[in-house]
Amino acid sequence: MTTQRGQFIVFEGIDGSGKSTQSQMLSDYPVSKGRKVHMTRQPSDRFVGKAIREVLEKRQVVPPQSLAAMFLADRYDHILGEGGILSYLESGVDVICDRYFWSSFAYHGLDMEIPFVIDLHKEIFELLMPDITFFIDLQPADAIARIAKRSAQRDLFEKESLLTTIRQNYIFAFEQFPDTKIVKINGNQSVEKVHEDLVGEL
Ligand code: ADP
Ligand code: TYD
Repeated sequence: MTTQRGQFIVFEGIDGSGKSTQSQMLSDYPVSKGRKVHMTRQPSDRFVGKAIREVLEKRQVVPPQSLAAMFLADRYDHILGEGGILSYLESGVDVICDRYFWSSFAYHGLDMEIPFVIDLHKEIFELLMPDITFFIDLQPADAIARIAKRSAQRDLFEKESLLTTIRQNYIFAFEQFPDTKIVKINGNQSVEKVHEDLVGEL
């Protein structure tokens, strides 16, 4: 008997849009259908992902091009490495990932041309496209208000004007992939309503 490959479900959105909250809530859904689920995120919790967090948390400084390349390196390892995403999918487990390559297009698009960043990912597209991407859309001012409630510490990208450009970059990047399933969800609703909208798309 051949195992049916798992579904690869990706969450995207600006910082504070509700990705972590919703990906956690959605983790029960495959289980309710008798499927197994693996939760993960990018930057990953692997070797390169940990180095990226050093930069995001300002303990290390690297040029923006290096950071973009680190995310690409992390992505290869996260997909192909031992215990990586492909190994789960191939054994029939659904994988829910908090951020994927769309984040690179949106965030590194602040420092370089988005088509260039997309081009760097050509081989990744062959390795692993999401089966569905949920874009939780929230206005930057609302996201900032949520982040401010969550903690006083702001990381690199948590500023309103940057988030505005990042949101526009997401929209531009999605337009470059008309054949890919990307579902925009209104993030400015209760946690329960956002969840209901997401499940309605699966
Ligand atoms: P992200 O992972 O996109 O940064 P989080 O899921 O961490 O976002 O949510 C950011 C903050 O907003 C958290 O404090 C969370 O509890 C809160 N939050 C998430 N979803 C909603 C919602 N629909 N309405 C109000 N607050 C929310
Ligand atoms: P994280 O703490 O996961 O933020 P959040 O809870 O808001 O998702 O930090 C991830 C940060 O890394 C976030 O600001 C977006 C950024 N990022 C990139 O710049 N490029 C990428 O390819 C990815 C996946 C994330």
